[in-house]
Amino acid sequence: MHKFWDNSSGTGAAARQGVAADTAAGEGARSTSAQARVFPASLQIGGVTISSATVLAPMAGVTDTVFRRFIKNLGGCGLIMTEFTSADGLLRDQRVRGRYLHFYEDEHPISAQLFGSDPKVLSDAARLVEDLGFDLIDLNLGCPAKKVVKCNGGSGLLRDLPLIRKIFESVRASVKTPFTVKFRAGWNDEEIVCVDLARLAEDCGLCAVALHARTREQGYSGNARWEWIASVKRAVKIPVIGNGDIRSPEDACAMIAQTGCDAVMIGRMAPANPWIFRQIEQYVESGACAQPSEADRYQMIRTYFQMLLEEEVPGSEGKMKQFASWFTHGVPGGGALRKAIYEAKSGAEILTNVEEFFEAKLQPQTT
Ligand SMILES: Cc1cc2nc3c(=O)[nH]c(=O)nc-3n(C[C@H](O)[C@H](O)[C@H](O)COP(=O)(O)O)c2cc1C
Repeated sequence: MHKFWDNSSGTGAAARQGVAADTAAGEGARSTSAQARVFPASLQIGGVTISSATVLAPMAGVTDTVFRRFIKNLGGCGLIMTEFTSADGLLRDQRVRGRYLHFYEDEHPISAQLFGSDPKVLSDAARLVEDLGFDLIDLNLGCPAKKVVKCNGGSGLLRDLPLIRKIFESVRASVKTPFTVKFRAGWNDEEIVCVDLARLAEDCGLCAVALHARTREQGYSGNARWEWIASVKRAVKIPVIGNGDIRSPEDACAMIAQTGCDAVMIGRMAPANPWIFRQIEQYVESGACAQPSEADRYQMIRTYFQMLLEEEVPGSEGKMKQFASWFTHGVPGGGALRKAIYEAKSGAEILTNVEEFFEAKLQPQTT
């Protein structure tokens, strides 16, 4: 199952820069100099302290309450975010709130991400989000999806800084909750606006910015250009969260070292290696990090699937199939498991496939 955003065969960013990047490949971590492992202990956004300085990126169809709690339970992740949620939809339809903005107490600190293009609608939606008890409110200015851009939402707004100013001011005036923005660098290479946009955010009283260092036209292709994160960091005093192509603890440290950013945000690597946040902590602490055993992998996938089934998340079978496809790459015999899961007719059947696969593999070690 190869998705449009999957460029995982690319080289890890740290490796591109000549830094060892071996943990994600499962070869066991290598010790690196302490200087290369400098990492902020925490991140302050308004009155909210986030520790570790790591963020699970918002991912539509992935970062629902189950996935967020699953990542949090594995340890090391400082902040989690909802999937992006339509401000219009939220005001129009009660069900949107239940589906996209439901969260549990143990998810704090948690940020709700909204998208839209109407300042009044966005500020009304932000008030609603504040009443729900979220710690942070984030605006999405990065989504490249055509159906979002068509309504001027997501990265569509990157070509209209005056409208962005109106949105920033309107939302800022309507809530006390710290307000942040996540954006791409610009529409295309000819229209890079990330520095102007970050300054605008600071000027309008936003409390932090997160940059996915690609353009809208790039989609998920090519490499994230971390030099843009460095430029944004130099331009503003509010915290800057760097995002794009972190695949290992070494990458996370390299992004901090090369850009000076205040925290890192990780998206696609989280479902492929849900331990990455904990591994970053371990790596920063000691220069090495634990690699999950086969038994850990089994426990992890089983726990996540059981949580999905218990929560009765809409579309949970599709999510299980998607997750299994990410997670079993590189697992010996994973192809057979992926095929069995793909052909399964129910969530329970998928879970049984996983149990049989791993129990057969673990048998000789346990008897
Ligand atoms: C399946 C998927 C869904 C995404 N949904 C959102 C979203 O709802 N809001 C958002 O700001 N970014 C979204 N993104 C972008 C990620 O948050 C992140 O910026 C991007 O994947 C780059 O980070 P990475 O290289 O660590 O994956 C999504 C990405 C993926 C792969």
